Amino acid sequence: MVVNKPPLGWNTWNTFGANINEQLIMESADAMIANGLKDAGYEYVVIDDIWALKERDENGRLVPDPEKFPHGMKYVADYIHSKGLKFGMYSCAGYLTCAGYPASYGYEWVDAKTFAEWEVDFLKYDFCFHPMTERADVLYKRMAIALANCGRDILLSACSWGSENTKQWIKETGAHMWRSTGDIFDSWASIKSLAQSQIVAQEYNGHGCFNDMDMLIVGMNGKGNVALTGCTTEEYRLHFSLWALLNSPLMIGCDIRDMTDETKSILLNKDVIAINQDELGAEPFFANNFKYEINNSRTENDPFYKSYPIDTPIIAKYLDGGDIAIGFFNFMDTDASVWNFTLTLDNLGLPLSSGKTIELHDLWTGKTLKTFNGTVRIDKVAPHDCRLFRAKVVDA
Ligand code: GAL
Repeated sequence: MVVNKPPLGWNTWNTFGANINEQLIMESADAMIANGLKDAGYEYVVIDDIWALKERDENGRLVPDPEKFPHGMKYVADYIHSKGLKFGMYSCAGYLTCAGYPASYGYEWVDAKTFAEWEVDFLKYDFCFHPMTERADVLYKRMAIALANCGRDILLSACSWGSENTKQWIKETGAHMWRSTGDIFDSWASIKSLAQSQIVAQEYNGHGCFNDMDMLIVGMNGKGNVALTGCTTEEYRLHFSLWALLNSPLMIGCDIRDMTDETKSILLNKDVIAINQDELGAEPFFANNFKYEINNSRTENDPFYKSYPIDTPIIAKYLDGGDIAIGFFNFMDTDASVWNFTLTLDNLGLPLSSGKTIELHDLWTGKTLKTFNGTVRIDKVAPHDCRLFRAKVVDA
């Protein structure tokens, strides 16, 4: 199974945690249709941890908690499929899931078969309670090869939080996406720290196995399982823009049955989703004026390993057909000025001598912006806000 675009969908964890059941899943599938999420491209409905009983059955198979899922999982899958959506579930590479339910270590082939019988399309595979004597890559390879032979296309969403140097081995396993961050929480501090941790991971991103920056918190507004302070609309917009631009899977984490107009205006922005879903699947790159140079006095996981303005990154991504996505992100608590946000077009491969420039279309305001003497200059970006553009190459 080849996955060429970051998966889009919804996952139970961020808002509902342990409070999940058949009715919630079916209502959320309905909401995917009624609220236009399916039309915008979201397709996976994913049940996260805490869906099973604490014991396997006499055949060693996982058992859905009958109080939560009285008709079993195939029934839920059938409902989701009848809506033209896809069904995702959760297990873990250790003895237990992170919440202490039975997990797949030593049961990989039994569980892959069970998921295939339930017509699961997506498996999030966590990393808690794994035996320390086993190599991390091997634990993921065991489930990957079992899924690849289960007779059904099941997308493998690896979730080892970037630990044990995941990026070095994850593509070997055949996983289709990999969690490149720790867990997200509904606060600005969480968005900022996850985003800034991604600097050293972009060269592992792209086609076939996308860096997963964790589920979205857009629209949680301080309510739910991973809720903290909540965020402003600007902060949620920055979060969505950055996750989209960095090719992260966009897995919604709020209650999609009850979204405000502001939440919908973010999650349903088709131009931003198009940047994420672009056919080329190119690796995003930092386009600030800095010398791209490895600083050997620092270790690889240190954000200053590559000298790059961590609080005001300018990030670009080439798109299929020749356009360029460009984002200006202000992580500072003060306004960013033209001093922070002057982009030299040569950094995109368009020196003045090329005779070319770009026309920028702002994906949040719809306005256009012109270049000035081989540069893009953004006068002011408010704290925690961003500008995201789709740029077209034109004659200067
Ligand atoms: C964490 C994982 C979360 C969620 C949780 C469930 O390890 O990163 O996204 O799945 O486990 O217990």
